Amino acid sequence: MLTDNHGRRFYYLRLSVTDQCNFRCSYCLPEGYRQTDFNPTLTAADMLTVVRAFARLGTRKVRLTGGEPTLFRELPWVIEQVAVTPGIQKVAITTNGYRLPKVIDDWHRAGLSQLNVSIDSLDPAEFASMTGHDCLPVILQGIDRALALGMPTKVNAVLHHESSRERLGQFLEWLVDTPVTLRFIELMQTGENRDYFISNHLRGDDIEAYLLATGWQPVPRALDDGPAREYCHPDYRGRVGLITPYATDFCQTCNRLRVSAQGRLHLCLFADQGIELLDVIRGGDSDQLASHIQQLMTGKAASHQLHQGQVGQTRNLAMLGG
Ligand code: 5AD
Ligand code: SF4
Repeated sequence: MLTDNHGRRFYYLRLSVTDQCNFRCSYCLPEGYRQTDFNPTLTAADMLTVVRAFARLGTRKVRLTGGEPTLFRELPWVIEQVAVTPGIQKVAITTNGYRLPKVIDDWHRAGLSQLNVSIDSLDPAEFASMTGHDCLPVILQGIDRALALGMPTKVNAVLHHESSRERLGQFLEWLVDTPVTLRFIELMQTGENRDYFISNHLRGDDIEAYLLATGWQPVPRALDDGPAREYCHPDYRGRVGLITPYATDFCQTCNRLRVSAQGRLHLCLFADQGIELLDVIRGGDSDQLASHIQQLMTGKAASHQLHQGQVGQTRNLAMLGG
Protein backbone atom coordinates (compact mmCIF):
# COMPACT_ATOMS: atom_id res chain seq x y z
CA MET A 1 0.00 0.00 0.00
CA LEU A 2 1.28 3.47 -0.91
CA THR A 3 1.45 5.72 2.13
CA ASP A 4 3.26 8.98 2.86
CA ASN A 5 4.87 10.50 5.95
CA HIS A 6 1.59 12.21 6.88
CA GLY A 7 -0.43 9.00 7.33
CA ARG A 8 -2.30 9.29 4.03
CA ARG A 9 -3.00 6.30 1.78
CA PHE A 10 -3.16 6.52 -1.98
CA TYR A 11 -5.85 4.53 -3.75
CA TYR A 12 -6.28 6.70 -6.76
CA LEU A 13 -4.06 7.45 -9.79
CA ARG A 14 -4.73 10.28 -12.23
CA LEU A 15 -2.90 9.54 -15.46
CA SER A 16 -2.69 12.25 -18.11
CA VAL A 17 -2.61 10.66 -21.57
CA THR A 18 -1.86 13.93 -23.42
CA ASP A 19 -1.29 17.56 -22.48
CA GLN A 20 -2.93 18.74 -25.71
CA CYS A 21 -6.38 20.27 -25.68
CA ASN A 22 -8.63 21.62 -28.43
CA PHE A 23 -10.58 23.99 -26.12
CA ARG A 24 -9.52 27.43 -24.95
CA CYS A 25 -11.06 27.72 -21.48
CA SER A 26 -10.46 31.25 -20.23
CA TYR A 27 -8.74 30.15 -17.00
CA CYS A 28 -6.66 27.37 -18.53
CA LEU A 29 -5.61 27.79 -22.17
CA PRO A 30 -7.08 31.17 -23.24
CA GLU A 31 -4.76 31.30 -26.25
CA GLY A 32 -5.28 27.63 -27.09
CA TYR A 33 -2.76 24.80 -26.76
CA ARG A 34 0.85 25.54 -27.64
CA GLN A 35 3.44 22.85 -27.27
CA THR A 36 5.93 23.87 -24.57
CA ASP A 37 7.29 20.50 -23.51
CA PHE A 38 9.23 18.78 -26.26
CA ASN A 39 10.18 15.75 -24.20
CA PRO A 40 9.00 12.32 -25.38
CA THR A 41 5.58 11.21 -24.14
CA LEU A 42 4.25 7.91 -22.84
CA THR A 43 3.08 5.32 -25.34
CA ALA A 44 -0.04 3.28 -24.66
CA ALA A 45 2.20 0.37 -23.55
CA ASP A 46 4.10 2.69 -21.17
CA MET A 47 0.78 3.77 -19.66
CA LEU A 48 -0.01 0.16 -18.84
CA THR A 49 3.37 -0.29 -17.15
CA VAL A 50 2.49 2.71 -14.97
CA VAL A 51 -0.99 1.38 -14.16
CA ARG A 52 0.34 -2.09 -13.30
CA ALA A 53 2.95 -0.60 -10.97
CA PHE A 54 0.32 1.47 -9.16
CA ALA A 55 -2.09 -1.49 -9.01
CA ARG A 56 0.67 -3.50 -7.27
CA LEU A 57 0.92 -0.67 -4.73
CA GLY A 58 -2.80 -0.79 -3.87
CA THR A 59 -4.28 1.65 -6.38
CA ARG A 60 -7.93 0.80 -7.02
CA LYS A 61 -9.06 3.58 -9.26
CA VAL A 62 -7.46 5.11 -12.35
CA ARG A 63 -8.68 8.31 -13.94
CA LEU A 64 -7.50 9.07 -17.47
CA THR A 65 -7.17 12.82 -17.98
CA GLY A 66 -5.54 15.26 -20.39
CA GLY A 67 -5.42 17.95 -21.73
CA GLU A 68 -8.26 16.38 -23.63
CA PRO A 69 -7.82 12.57 -23.47
CA THR A 70 -9.78 11.88 -26.68
CA LEU A 71 -6.89 13.53 -28.57
CA PHE A 72 -4.80 10.45 -27.70
CA ARG A 73 -5.59 7.98 -30.47
CA GLU A 74 -5.18 4.76 -28.53
CA LEU A 75 -7.45 5.86 -25.71
CA PRO A 76 -10.09 3.10 -26.18
CA TRP A 77 -7.38 0.42 -25.99
CA VAL A 78 -5.93 2.00 -22.85
CA ILE A 79 -9.39 2.06 -21.20
CA GLU A 80 -9.87 -1.60 -22.05
CA GLN A 81 -6.48 -2.66 -20.69
CA VAL A 82 -6.73 -0.59 -17.51
CA ALA A 83 -10.21 -2.01 -16.87
CA VAL A 84 -8.83 -5.59 -16.86
CA THR A 85 -5.69 -4.82 -14.81
CA PRO A 86 -5.84 -6.95 -11.63
CA GLY A 87 -6.55 -4.75 -8.61
CA ILE A 88 -8.09 -1.88 -10.58
CA GLN A 89 -11.77 -1.69 -9.72
CA LYS A 90 -12.68 1.54 -11.48
CA VAL A 91 -11.52 3.30 -14.62
CA ALA A 92 -12.77 6.84 -15.04
CA ILE A 93 -12.19 9.57 -17.57
CA THR A 94 -12.33 13.37 -17.51
CA THR A 95 -13.15 14.92 -20.88
CA ASN A 96 -14.40 18.19 -22.33
CA GLY A 97 -16.95 16.00 -24.12
CA TYR A 98 -16.64 17.48 -27.60
CA ARG A 99 -16.84 14.02 -29.24
CA LEU A 100 -18.90 12.33 -26.56
CA PRO A 101 -21.84 11.04 -28.68
CA LYS A 102 -19.34 9.41 -31.08
CA VAL A 103 -17.17 7.70 -28.46
CA ILE A 104 -19.30 6.92 -25.44
CA ASP A 105 -20.55 3.54 -26.69
CA ASP A 106 -16.98 2.38 -27.39
CA TRP A 107 -15.80 3.52 -23.98
CA HIS A 108 -18.68 1.73 -22.34
CA ARG A 109 -17.82 -1.48 -24.19
CA ALA A 110 -14.16 -1.04 -23.23
CA GLY A 111 -15.16 -1.11 -19.55
CA LEU A 112 -15.24 2.55 -18.53
CA SER A 113 -16.85 2.77 -15.10
CA GLN A 114 -17.23 6.52 -14.61
CA LEU A 115 -17.45 9.60 -16.80
CA ASN A 116 -16.62 13.22 -15.89
CA VAL A 117 -17.45 15.99 -18.31
CA SER A 118 -16.44 19.64 -17.83
CA ILE A 119 -19.23 22.17 -18.46
CA ASP A 120 -18.87 25.67 -17.03
CA SER A 121 -22.18 27.04 -18.28
CA LEU A 122 -25.50 25.62 -19.48
CA ASP A 123 -26.08 28.68 -21.64
CA PRO A 124 -24.93 27.69 -25.17
CA ALA A 125 -23.65 31.17 -26.10
CA GLU A 126 -21.81 31.64 -22.82
CA PHE A 127 -20.35 28.13 -23.14
CA ALA A 128 -19.07 28.99 -26.63
CA SER A 129 -17.45 32.19 -25.45
CA MET A 130 -15.82 30.47 -22.47
CA THR A 131 -14.34 27.52 -24.39
CA GLY A 132 -14.04 28.77 -27.98
CA HIS A 133 -16.35 25.92 -29.13
CA ASP A 134 -20.06 26.20 -29.83
CA CYS A 135 -20.84 22.58 -29.01
CA LEU A 136 -22.84 22.48 -25.77
CA PRO A 137 -25.80 20.60 -27.39
CA VAL A 138 -23.47 17.84 -28.65
CA ILE A 139 -21.94 17.44 -25.18
CA LEU A 140 -25.37 17.26 -23.53
CA GLN A 141 -26.45 14.69 -26.10
CA GLY A 142 -23.37 12.62 -25.16
CA ILE A 143 -24.28 12.87 -21.48
CA ASP A 144 -27.82 11.65 -22.23
CA ARG A 145 -26.35 8.67 -24.04
CA ALA A 146 -23.97 7.92 -21.14
CA LEU A 147 -26.90 7.98 -18.73
CA ALA A 148 -28.94 5.73 -21.03
CA LEU A 149 -26.03 3.26 -20.89
CA GLY A 150 -26.17 3.39 -17.09
CA MET A 151 -22.78 5.13 -16.79
CA PRO A 152 -22.27 7.05 -13.53
CA THR A 153 -21.68 10.60 -14.80
CA LYS A 154 -20.32 13.72 -13.13
CA VAL A 155 -20.17 17.22 -14.51
CA ASN A 156 -17.44 19.65 -13.40
CA ALA A 157 -18.20 23.36 -13.36
CA VAL A 158 -15.59 25.88 -12.31
CA LEU A 159 -17.02 28.63 -10.10
CA HIS A 160 -16.65 32.15 -11.42
CA HIS A 161 -17.41 35.39 -9.69
CA GLU A 162 -19.22 36.83 -12.66
CA SER A 163 -22.84 35.67 -13.19
CA SER A 164 -22.41 32.83 -10.67
CA ARG A 165 -25.95 33.23 -9.34
CA GLU A 166 -27.62 32.80 -12.72
CA ARG A 167 -25.41 29.85 -13.52
CA LEU A 168 -26.13 28.15 -10.20
CA GLY A 169 -29.88 28.51 -10.81
CA GLN A 170 -29.59 27.04 -14.29
CA PHE A 171 -27.51 24.10 -13.08
CA LEU A 172 -29.84 23.30 -10.17
CA GLU A 173 -32.86 23.37 -12.48
CA TRP A 174 -31.08 20.91 -14.78
CA LEU A 175 -30.46 18.57 -11.81
CA VAL A 176 -34.16 18.20 -11.04
CA ASP A 177 -34.46 15.62 -13.85
CA THR A 178 -30.84 14.82 -14.76
CA PRO A 179 -29.21 12.12 -12.61
CA VAL A 180 -25.63 13.43 -12.74
CA THR A 181 -23.43 14.72 -9.93
CA LEU A 182 -22.59 18.34 -10.63
CA ARG A 183 -19.37 19.38 -8.92
CA PHE A 184 -18.56 23.03 -8.44
CA ILE A 185 -14.80 23.54 -8.41
CA GLU A 186 -13.20 26.63 -6.92
CA LEU A 187 -11.00 28.32 -9.47
CA MET A 188 -7.34 27.59 -8.68
CA GLN A 189 -4.43 29.90 -9.35
CA THR A 190 -1.84 28.52 -11.75
CA GLY A 191 1.37 29.94 -13.20
CA GLU A 192 -0.42 31.46 -16.19
CA ASN A 193 -3.81 32.64 -14.90
CA ARG A 194 -2.90 35.03 -12.05
CA ASP A 195 -4.95 38.05 -13.26
CA TYR A 196 -7.92 35.90 -14.25
CA PHE A 197 -7.78 34.22 -10.86
CA ILE A 198 -7.70 37.51 -8.94
CA SER A 199 -10.79 38.85 -10.73
CA ASN A 200 -12.79 35.59 -10.78
CA HIS A 201 -12.02 33.52 -7.69
CA LEU A 202 -15.17 32.72 -5.72
CA ARG A 203 -15.20 30.67 -2.48
CA GLY A 204 -17.50 27.64 -2.39
CA ASP A 205 -18.65 28.37 1.21
CA ASP A 206 -21.61 30.53 0.17
CA ILE A 207 -22.92 27.86 -2.16
CA GLU A 208 -22.54 25.24 0.55
CA ALA A 209 -24.46 27.40 3.02
CA TYR A 210 -27.18 27.92 0.42
CA LEU A 211 -27.45 24.16 -0.27
CA LEU A 212 -27.69 23.31 3.45
CA ALA A 213 -30.34 26.00 3.95
CA THR A 214 -32.45 24.61 1.09
CA GLY A 215 -32.62 20.97 2.19
CA TRP A 216 -29.55 19.38 0.59
CA GLN A 217 -28.03 16.58 2.73
CA PRO A 218 -24.34 15.54 2.85
CA VAL A 219 -23.50 12.11 1.35
CA PRO A 220 -20.73 9.98 3.04
CA ARG A 221 -17.37 9.58 1.19
CA ALA A 222 -15.82 6.33 -0.10
CA LEU A 223 -12.08 5.53 0.23
CA ASP A 224 -11.26 6.15 -3.43
CA ASP A 225 -13.50 9.19 -3.82
CA GLY A 226 -12.04 12.41 -5.13
CA PRO A 227 -11.97 15.54 -3.00
CA ALA A 228 -15.62 16.60 -3.48
CA ARG A 229 -18.10 16.91 -0.63
CA GLU A 230 -21.39 15.70 -2.08
CA TYR A 231 -25.01 16.58 -1.33
CA CYS A 232 -28.35 15.07 -2.33
CA HIS A 233 -31.94 16.30 -2.16
CA PRO A 234 -35.23 14.35 -2.38
CA ASP A 235 -36.62 16.68 -5.08
CA TYR A 236 -33.61 16.34 -7.39
CA ARG A 237 -32.46 13.32 -9.40
CA GLY A 238 -28.97 14.83 -9.59
CA ARG A 239 -26.48 15.54 -6.80
CA VAL A 240 -24.25 18.51 -6.08
CA GLY A 241 -20.58 18.33 -5.06
CA LEU A 242 -18.14 21.00 -3.97
CA ILE A 243 -14.39 20.97 -4.50
CA THR A 244 -12.79 23.67 -2.38
CA PRO A 245 -9.00 23.50 -2.61
CA TYR A 246 -8.70 26.73 -0.62
CA ALA A 247 -10.57 25.29 2.38
CA THR A 248 -8.45 24.53 5.46
CA ASP A 249 -7.65 20.81 5.76
CA PHE A 250 -8.41 20.19 2.07
CA CYS A 251 -5.12 18.29 1.73
CA GLN A 252 -5.70 16.02 4.76
CA THR A 253 -7.92 13.69 2.76
CA CYS A 254 -5.59 13.56 -0.27
CA ASN A 255 -5.71 10.01 -1.67
CA ARG A 256 -4.38 10.56 -5.19
CA LEU A 257 -1.17 10.81 -7.17
CA ARG A 258 -0.60 12.01 -10.70
CA VAL A 259 1.51 10.92 -13.63
CA SER A 260 1.89 13.29 -16.59
CA ALA A 261 1.90 12.33 -20.27
CA GLN A 262 5.66 13.00 -20.15
CA GLY A 263 6.08 10.27 -17.56
CA ARG A 264 6.63 12.47 -14.50
CA LEU A 265 5.24 11.67 -11.08
CA HIS A 266 3.50 14.65 -9.49
CA LEU A 267 3.13 14.12 -5.75
CA CYS A 268 0.82 17.16 -5.69
CA LEU A 269 -0.98 19.14 -8.38
CA PHE A 270 0.99 22.16 -7.14
CA ALA A 271 4.34 20.51 -6.40
CA ASP A 272 7.51 22.33 -7.39
CA GLN A 273 8.28 19.83 -10.07
CA GLY A 274 7.33 16.47 -11.47
CA ILE A 275 9.74 13.58 -10.78
CA GLU A 276 11.17 12.04 -13.93
CA LEU A 277 10.06 8.40 -14.29
CA LEU A 278 10.21 7.97 -18.06
CA ASP A 279 13.40 5.87 -18.14
CA VAL A 280 12.16 3.46 -15.50
CA ILE A 281 8.73 3.27 -17.18
CA ARG A 282 10.34 2.55 -20.57
CA GLY A 283 12.23 -0.36 -18.93
CA GLY A 284 8.79 -2.02 -18.88
CA ASP A 285 9.30 -3.65 -15.46
CA SER A 286 6.31 -2.63 -13.35
CA ASP A 287 7.78 -4.22 -10.17
CA GLN A 288 10.86 -2.08 -10.43
CA LEU A 289 8.74 0.98 -11.16
CA ALA A 290 6.55 0.18 -8.14
CA SER A 291 9.50 0.07 -5.71
CA HIS A 292 10.88 3.28 -7.20
CA ILE A 293 7.53 5.07 -6.69
CA GLN A 294 7.28 3.75 -3.14
CA GLN A 295 10.65 5.32 -2.27
CA LEU A 296 9.60 8.68 -3.72
CA MET A 297 6.56 8.94 -1.44
CA THR A 298 8.58 10.38 1.48
CA GLY A 299 8.83 13.57 -0.60
CA LYS A 300 5.09 14.29 -0.52
CA ALA A 301 4.36 17.53 1.35
CA ALA A 302 1.51 17.80 3.88
CA SER A 303 -0.28 20.53 1.94
CA HIS A 304 -0.13 22.76 -1.10
CA GLN A 305 0.97 26.39 -0.59
CA LEU A 306 -1.81 27.97 -2.67
CA HIS A 307 -2.80 30.34 0.13
CA GLN A 308 0.64 31.91 -0.13
CA GLY A 309 0.11 32.21 -3.89
CA GLN A 310 2.72 29.50 -4.49
CA VAL A 311 1.47 27.46 -7.43
CA GLY A 312 4.56 25.30 -7.90
CA GLN A 313 5.49 24.66 -11.50
CA THR A 314 1.90 24.15 -12.69
CA ARG A 315 1.48 26.61 -15.58
CA ASN A 316 -2.07 25.47 -16.33
CA LEU A 317 -4.12 22.39 -15.50
CA ALA A 318 -3.99 21.06 -19.07
CA MET A 319 -0.50 19.88 -18.11
CA LEU A 320 -1.94 17.43 -15.60
CA GLY A 321 -5.70 17.22 -16.06
CA GLY A 322 -6.66 18.80 -12.74
N1 5AD B 1 -9.04 25.92 -11.51
C1 5AD B 1 -10.04 25.04 -11.29
N2 5AD B 1 -10.40 24.09 -12.16
C2 5AD B 1 -9.71 24.02 -13.31
N3 5AD B 1 -9.83 23.19 -14.35
C3 5AD B 1 -8.89 23.50 -15.24
N4 5AD B 1 -8.16 24.56 -14.82
C4 5AD B 1 -8.66 24.89 -13.61
C5 5AD B 1 -8.34 25.90 -12.65
N5 5AD B 1 -7.33 26.75 -12.83
C6 5AD B 1 -10.84 22.14 -14.40
C7 5AD B 1 -11.50 21.97 -15.72
C8 5AD B 1 -11.93 20.54 -15.68
C9 5AD B 1 -11.01 19.89 -14.68
C10 5AD B 1 -10.16 18.84 -15.26
O1 5AD B 1 -10.21 20.91 -14.14
O2 5AD B 1 -12.60 22.80 -15.91
O3 5AD B 1 -13.24 20.40 -15.24
FE1 SF4 C 1 -10.56 23.61 -20.94
FE2 SF4 C 1 -9.74 21.29 -19.88
FE3 SF4 C 1 -8.92 22.05 -22.26
FE4 SF4 C 1 -8.00 23.32 -20.09
S1 SF4 C 1 -7.60 21.19 -20.61
S2 SF4 C 1 -8.71 24.25 -22.04
S3 SF4 C 1 -9.83 23.25 -18.80
S4 SF4 C 1 -11.06 21.63 -21.72
